[in-house]
Amino acid sequence: MSQQDQKERVGKAAADLVESGMTLGLGTGSTATCFIQALAERGLRPRCVATSEATAVMALGLGFDVVGLDVLSKIDLTVDGVDEVDANLTAIKGGGGALMREKIVASISETVVYIGDDTKLVDRLGKFPLPIEVSPFASSVVLRKISDLGAKSEIRLQDGKPFVSDEGHWIIDAAFELIEDPYELDVLLNMTPGVVAHGLFIDLIDRMLLMQNGDVVALDRPQ
Ligand code: A5P
Repeated sequence: MSQQDQKERVGKAAADLVESGMTLGLGTGSTATCFIQALAERGLRPRCVATSEATAVMALGLGFDVVGLDVLSKIDLTVDGVDEVDANLTAIKGGGGALMREKIVASISETVVYIGDDTKLVDRLGKFPLPIEVSPFASSVVLRKISDLGAKSEIRLQDGKPFVSDEGHWIIDAAFELIEDPYELDVLLNMTPGVVAHGLFIDLIDRMLLMQNGDVVALDRPQ
């Protein structure tokens, strides 16, 4: 089965969880796009908050009621993709640059279900470079700090210039290769001035829907 078919399968499985009247958080990226498409194919036009401008444009185009967090007092379900996830449902996100909004939306959702093809589940996190969103002013300071931690890191570029997130920040991609202790790194990055968000998602994901051997498999976060 192709990667695209896998994304469509998990996108549809997640859309099947949605009941009429639910408020939704919509993720960003190619797998989240399949979820949004599957919602539309079910005839749903939910009230939702989008985790990126790109997702907002898509959802508005499909006739969804896209609102801001000032309007939506409660998000019933958020569905999003991941870059890497382990068996504890700790994930790396932000390959698409939307990590800050994605983390905020996940943190205020009643239920968080993420979806992915068979490449996303890993034994240990870190092969995928960790996106770290920074204030442009602080970027060189944070780069040096990340290098001191042993990761090769670089500022993400687009058309030869720093990529700018929807929140107006830059992103450093930090290639740790292996993240020994995600909890320790989370605390360290949260304490670093100039870091406004990072792509380690810990204790946020309730359930992963993943493709394994041609089937959709559900993994719940261990309690
Ligand atoms: C967006 O910032 C990311 O967190 C995406 O959710 C992640 O990169 C997964 O994207 P794909 O579904 O395109 O692999």
